[in-house]
Amino acid sequence: LARGVTEPDLRGRHVVVSAGGTREPLDPVRFLGNRSSGKQGYALARTAVARGARVTLVSANAALPDPAGVDVVAVGTAVELREAVLRAAADADAVVMAAAVADFRPAAYAAGKIKKKDGQEPEPVTLVRNPDILAEISGDRVRSGQVIVGFAAETDDVLANGRAKLKRKGCDLLVVNEVGERKTFGSEENEAVVLGADGSETPVAHGPKEALADTVWDLVSERLGE
Ligand code: CTP
Ligand code: CA
Repeated sequence: LARGVTEPDLRGRHVVVSAGGTREPLDPVRFLGNRSSGKQGYALARTAVARGARVTLVSANAALPDPAGVDVVAVGTAVELREAVLRAAADADAVVMAAAVADFRPAAYAAGKIKKKDGQEPEPVTLVRNPDILAEISGDRVRSGQVIVGFAAETDDVLANGRAKLKRKGCDLLVVNEVGERKTFGSEENEAVVLGADGSETPVAHGPKEALADTVWDLVSERLGE
C-alpha cells in the first residue's frame, strides 16, 4: 500500500503521544512557557486513531478540543509530563514525543505572588534542569521493544544538528523541523525531515500536519515487531 493511505495498520497497538508545551510556574500567576500550539501532537493522535491504534495523548497546555476516541491526560509541567508519559508507556508499542518540554524550571516556586519592591531591581530567577523524558524512555527501548520518536526544531545546520540529537537521545526516529520567522509555531502546516537511527532520511514536503503525522506512523509501523 502507498504511504499516507489510511489503513488499520496500528490495530491492536497502544501508542502514546505527548503534545503542547510545558509551563513551569514561578508563582501562582506566572510561568515560563513556550510557543508550542499542540497541533502537531493532536494531528498525530487523530491519525493514529484513524489507523486503528489505542491512543493516549499526554497534553500540556494545548488549547485544543479532545480528539474523538483518544484517552487524554492533561498535564502542566515537565515533571508531570514525565510521570504521565512513563505511566502510559508501560504497555505502549510506540511513544512519540511531540511536546515542547521546558529544559529548565525555576529552582524555587513562590507560594505568594512575587511583588515589586520600591526602588529595588528584581531578584534574578535561578533555573534548574528538567528531566530529559525522551532520553529516559529511549534508554529502555531495547528491553521494551518500543519504537520511540522525538521531535526537534532546529536552525542553522538543521540536518547535522538533527543527526547529533538523534544519537544523543537514543531514539529510533527524530522529526526535524527548520524554524525561523513565522515557521512552524501555531501554523496549520509543517515541513520536516524524519531521521532514522538506521541512517534513513525521509523528507516530508510542506503540507498539513496530518500528512507529516501519517508519515511518522508509516515509519513507526515499519519498525514495530510482531
Ligand atoms: N524532550 C524531552 N525532555 C526534555 C527536553 C526535550 O523529552 N527535557 C524531547 C522533546 O519532546 C523532543 C526532543 O526531546 O521530542 C527534542 O527536544 P529538543 O528541545 O530539541 O532537545 P534538547 O535535548 O532539549 O536540545 P536543545 O538544547 O536543542 O533544546
Ligand atoms: Ca530543549
